[in-house]
Amino acid sequence: MTDNIVLFDTTLRDGEQSPGGTLTSTEKIDVARQLARLGVNIIEAGFPAASPDDLAAVKMISNEIGRADSLNKAGESYQNVPIICGLARASISDIDHAWTAIKDADKPRIHTFLATSEIHMKYKLCMDPEEVIDSIINSVTYAKNLCDDVEFSPEDAGRSNPEFLYTVLEEAIKSGATTLNIPDTVGYTTPEEFKTLIKGIVDNTKGIQNVVLSVHCHDDLGLATANTLAGIQAGARQAEVTINGIGERAGNTSLEEVVMAIETRKAFFKLNHSINTTQIIRTSRMVSKYTGIVVQPNKAIVGANAFAHEAGIHQDGMLKNETTYEIMRPETVGLTQSQLVLGKHSGRHALKIRLQEMGYDINDKNLDKIFKRFKKVAEKKKTITDIDIEALIADQIYQPKETYKLQDVQVVSGTLGLPTATVRIIDSTDNLVEQATIGTGPVDACFSAIDEIIKIPNELTEYNVNSVTEGIDAIGEVTVRIKIDITKIEATKRISAHRDQIQYQYFSGHGANTDIFVASARAYVNAINQAIETLGLETNNTTKKLV
Ligand code: KIV
Ligand code: ZN
Repeated sequence: MTDNIVLFDTTLRDGEQSPGGTLTSTEKIDVARQLARLGVNIIEAGFPAASPDDLAAVKMISNEIGRADSLNKAGESYQNVPIICGLARASISDIDHAWTAIKDADKPRIHTFLATSEIHMKYKLCMDPEEVIDSIINSVTYAKNLCDDVEFSPEDAGRSNPEFLYTVLEEAIKSGATTLNIPDTVGYTTPEEFKTLIKGIVDNTKGIQNVVLSVHCHDDLGLATANTLAGIQAGARQAEVTINGIGERAGNTSLEEVVMAIETRKAFFKLNHSINTTQIIRTSRMVSKYTGIVVQPNKAIVGANAFAHEAGIHQDGMLKNETTYEIMRPETVGLTQSQLVLGKHSGRHALKIRLQEMGYDINDKNLDKIFKRFKKVAEKKKTITDIDIEALIADQIYQPKETYKLQDVQVVSGTLGLPTATVRIIDSTDNLVEQATIGTGPVDACFSAIDEIIKIPNELTEYNVNSVTEGIDAIGEVTVRIKIDITKIEATKRISAHRDQIQYQYFSGHGANTDIFVASARAYVNAINQAIETLGLETNNTTKKLV
């Protein structure tokens, strides 16, 4: 008999807790939309009580991605509109925040949690076990009065006393929980132990057959996927995962590993899932681009080398029969085979057809933009692959409104003299402004010249450069993240009153070009444009209204 496994994606909540992995609201919406395309059943969109911005982002996702009517308006239709989930500690105020954020979704879920391990109860919560049980009963009951769909997690279950867990879970069921999630919060257990824990819960918790049992594993010992699959074998039917396995510390179980294990070993697991596996690579690249967290090349399923065969003996086997060394086809995860997609003589129509084959539905205006960039790149680069095209799409289409438009960049650097950059930018009133600046290095010179023109005080917190493909003529893709002290912005220009409570806001920008200095300048200007658009900054030629 074949069962279904429910995929609960927490990229936007646990994943966003990755060091440096913060996303802007626009990026969160893009990722949520892509997760819906991928076919996840549940999107944990954030932790609304954590900050007013988190609440606003979860609310936006509930309205735009969690509703069939908005999805249809945006031209997207899915078999299933995902459940939108908000996380809350076991407190009335947290649960109220979560409910405010998710209640507009067609299918809202409140996820509340409280620690049950002795270590956490004694040192973190300073509560005795009876107080913990009372608090769980109160919070689950309160959540249930607001929302039919309530998930409860005993935090640090992996190190909790199993007998105590059975009692806690029984009380959560009696109070109205519909999903019970078992987290190995610190990634401590082994697959054997985790399987025994889940089996113990299935065998000893009254009412467990009436709820969905879920697993949530962290990767501190590199065992997250193994533990999740062990939990599934013991009876769990929901897996909590993130794209690329991002998350707290060493991260969470990665969606692509669990899904492809179940898919590739169907006869072993005997489970169905709702994931459109051909969207995996695209989702992975989007999350990596937006978070700036680079995927290691040897990462299973989505790493650059996951389908590369280097050794001669392997290549020989592959040529004779692909199944000798390949257990999954690259197309299954969305890696298209064609390497040489188009050349410099290809026309607009050929590009449009290729984009459609890649799953992009691009309007004529955007097609013109991409075609222009494609022609420029084709003059410099011999072979243009799907990945190159995706980088151009990210650079041209998924960008904020171009309040400032980078026109030209010229950089002089080397061992003689000072690195110097000359930058030309078209400002918000269509003036062409030029600035030349020296810096400690070529990128610093470039960014300083841009700062001289745009004058929005910010701190560069991250700078990443990646080559999209191999070869000396590869496109370079740059991601930058900037930090803006929003307390310095005139109160009237803040788009939300809640912003009074936070000091810094982060914005990222992306740029792609065969010249990495041009890509860097584009990424930096895009990050600043993102800040202008999100914060509603008034632009008066080149003078910003900052106090
Ligand atoms: O790891 C954990 O325990 C969590 C809970 C909030 C489910 O993320
Ligand atoms: Zn977690």
